[in-house]
Amino acid sequence: VGGVKIAREDVVKEDDPTNNVPDTIYSKIGIQLHRRDNHPLGILKNTIYDYFDKSFPGQFVKFDDLCPLVSTKQNFDDVLVPADHVSRSYNDTYYVDSQTVLRCHTSAHQAELLREGHTHFLVIGDVYRRDSIDSTHYPVFHQMEGFRVFSPDDWSGSGMDGTAYAATDLKKTLEGLATHLFGAVEMRWVDTYFPFTNPSFELEIYFQGDWLEVLGSGVTEQEILKSNGRTDHVAWAFGLGLERLAMVLFDIPDIRLFWSNDQRFTSQFSKGKLGAKFKPFSKFPPCYKDMSFWINDEFTENNLCEVVRGIAGDLVEEVKLIDNFTNKKGMTSHCYRIAYRSMERSLTDEEINDMQWNVREEVKSKLRVELR
Ligand code: PHE
Repeated sequence: VGGVKIAREDVVKEDDPTNNVPDTIYSKIGIQLHRRDNHPLGILKNTIYDYFDKSFPGQFVKFDDLCPLVSTKQNFDDVLVPADHVSRSYNDTYYVDSQTVLRCHTSAHQAELLREGHTHFLVIGDVYRRDSIDSTHYPVFHQMEGFRVFSPDDWSGSGMDGTAYAATDLKKTLEGLATHLFGAVEMRWVDTYFPFTNPSFELEIYFQGDWLEVLGSGVTEQEILKSNGRTDHVAWAFGLGLERLAMVLFDIPDIRLFWSNDQRFTSQFSKGKLGAKFKPFSKFPPCYKDMSFWINDEFTENNLCEVVRGIAGDLVEEVKLIDNFTNKKGMTSHCYRIAYRSMERSLTDEEINDMQWNVREEVKSKLRVELR
């Protein structure tokens, strides 16, 4: 990454039980879609840069090339993620070994950048999460983190305490960003929880008839500032998912398209043109296949999705639980419907049947469930 190539054997370790990184994930490391100026994610990134450059000339330092392999300390401990938080589980996060993960958020870089003395920064990068499969979820996506530190001089004359001052500035800054991206839209702030901010807020905008969550944000926990050389300061932080916003701004119907090298996709976007509406070049029909099995105690939907993705790659559009029951003996059966569809061509029956057969075999052998 950033010219440094990460070797497969440093990330994929099949016989290490503390590693759960498959080849499908390894193959995405270093692609850095957010650094392509003609890609929807790069166009969105640059538009957000423009907003910060215009509003705070020369103040925000940008990092879009930090290595996605980080320590569990960076990803979790440094941002106060509790020891028992679900995001630490092997079911939710890709572990390279017990001490190293593929970052699951750009917040993993807050502490190191603070320690390096930065007070205004943006971090853009690929982030990795084990998840279920549908048109808006993909195990690799992109986030932008924003962070701003204030010193006592900044708020002393305001009549507010540091926290209130930072929260007010945060809201003003992010409402300005949303307007820059979406135009004049209705907005609302929703209270929420993050381990690293307090208070914490989500910004939602009313867009095309729905409330859309734009970002998570809040006033940084004092402990993070104190541990990283900024005692007596306050700060705000936000994190936003680039795909989620790019999908609505460019009318992109499926998150897999961001990874497409098909000219019919890539040629529709050009540098500086935010919101050019994507024209679907084809709509091939999906093909549905159902499979039922008795689950065991270790079964999780994320593990199932990893198996399906390992075989079908980007040809799988959705994996959906359509039936779930427990019999008198206490055995639980799940029926999943898998939708196969290529964004680029029509699939043959034979190809789909082969994939489905392989999925069944691997589900049986890897997840050790009993097919019905
Ligand atoms: N890291 C959070 C997430 O991934 C987003 C966030 C960043 C929230 C910074 C608050 C402050 O969901």
